[in-house]
Amino acid sequence: MDRFHIVGPTPLLGTVRASGAKNAALPALAATLLTDEPVVLHRVPRVRDIRTLRRLLDHLGMGSEDREGGAIVVRRQSADGSPNDAPYDLVKTMRASVLVLGPQLAKRGYARVSLPGGCAIGVRPIDQHLKGLAALGADVRISHGYVEATAVHLVGTRFRFDMPTVTGTENVLMAATLARGATVLENCAREPEIADLAELLVAMGARIYGAGTERIVIEGVLGLGGARHVIIPDRIEGGTYLIGAALTGGDVLLAEARAADLAPLLEKLAEVGVDVEVTAHGIRARSRGTLVSRDLDTAPHPSFPTDLQAQYMALMTQAEGVATIRETIFENRFQHAPELARMGADVRVEGNSARVYGPRALSGTTVMATDLRASACLVLAGLAASGETVVDRIYHLDRGYEGMELKLQGLGARVARLAELPAA
Ligand code: EPU
Repeated sequence: MDRFHIVGPTPLLGTVRASGAKNAALPALAATLLTDEPVVLHRVPRVRDIRTLRRLLDHLGMGSEDREGGAIVVRRQSADGSPNDAPYDLVKTMRASVLVLGPQLAKRGYARVSLPGGCAIGVRPIDQHLKGLAALGADVRISHGYVEATAVHLVGTRFRFDMPTVTGTENVLMAATLARGATVLENCAREPEIADLAELLVAMGARIYGAGTERIVIEGVLGLGGARHVIIPDRIEGGTYLIGAALTGGDVLLAEARAADLAPLLEKLAEVGVDVEVTAHGIRARSRGTLVSRDLDTAPHPSFPTDLQAQYMALMTQAEGVATIRETIFENRFQHAPELARMGADVRVEGNSARVYGPRALSGTTVMATDLRASACLVLAGLAASGETVVDRIYHLDRGYEGMELKLQGLGARVARLAELPAA
């Protein structure tokens, strides 16, 4: 398994550009199942989760091809006759595979998707996806570890999610585009990735109002066509580099960023003592030398994203005072805490709260994490630590960060990818 070798401390200095958002590109790729026409997606990040979904689409009869400049064209290979199931082997490696459920059901009247099961950060049920599809008139059954959903045609409805769910909102939204009549979805997730998906669907001919707010109205249409769409920049990837600048005493310009998507992070950075400037060129985060601790609660957008909580914890190890970080979205998302402690941090976890006592000098060692954002946190900590840090199991990072070592090298970091050693 590949590892990162980091020599620190080094300030991150310079300009970096975020890739397309993984969590916007995944539903966009799933949405191609709704049409027989080609869909061209620009700025799709070259990360492992995208490759996994492309494999699943291929299995479902949707070929995808890389085009120059980073675009991907997805095209249906045959009108029917392709398998209609998302097998366990593909779904178990990436929960977002469940995003094919809504579009497959709407387009083909039947879908069979393996239940994703839990993952490293929590149990993560999909009951809301299933309730929403059932409200649209689908017959939804679970047997032998698979969800089977059937509907001759879906029918518009009014449905209220019990809690805002990102992929749940996306799944039901996609299904409703081809339902008969109007659907009103309430208590929807408001993440920017949902508005981006709706923009693609509208370009394909869907009628959607209010995406990005808690109430989305969809007027069903008979069919959807092809489209061309540019994926939004990845706010979590970009935010990771801004936190890196703050943590290492650096100065980074995140070029072409959408500041509104990053507002909760930018406010927090300003509170802890980082100079944040939003200009026409992007977002600049510049360290003022010292940081002060501030508490943080994660919550659905537009509050602070759970996907930046681990990176924020790395930042708080270098701040004056005590920061209490509360994770309210996932029940097991502090795996980075014991690894940070091995680097010298003083982090005390109790239930869904972690208290970070700072500042503490970090020193390099071998660390590893079992999820994507926890791994990013450890890479940032390695940049701020003295000496050599080896971050093991980089395949977690490769799920969602495009060329992270190259981008960090571009900012002056001393980081190298060590390829897996051949078996002795
Ligand atoms: N939930 C339910 N039932 C459901 C759906 C969700 O109880 O049917 C609960 C979850 O267990 C969780 C909360 O609702 O406690 C919110 O989960 P959500 O459904 O919003 O998460 P998700 O759609 O599975 C997406 C991102 C995650 C990100 C979360 C929260 C994608 C592909 N994944 O997951 O991204 O953390 O929203 O913002 O969009 C990552 O990129 O590292 C990542 C984990």
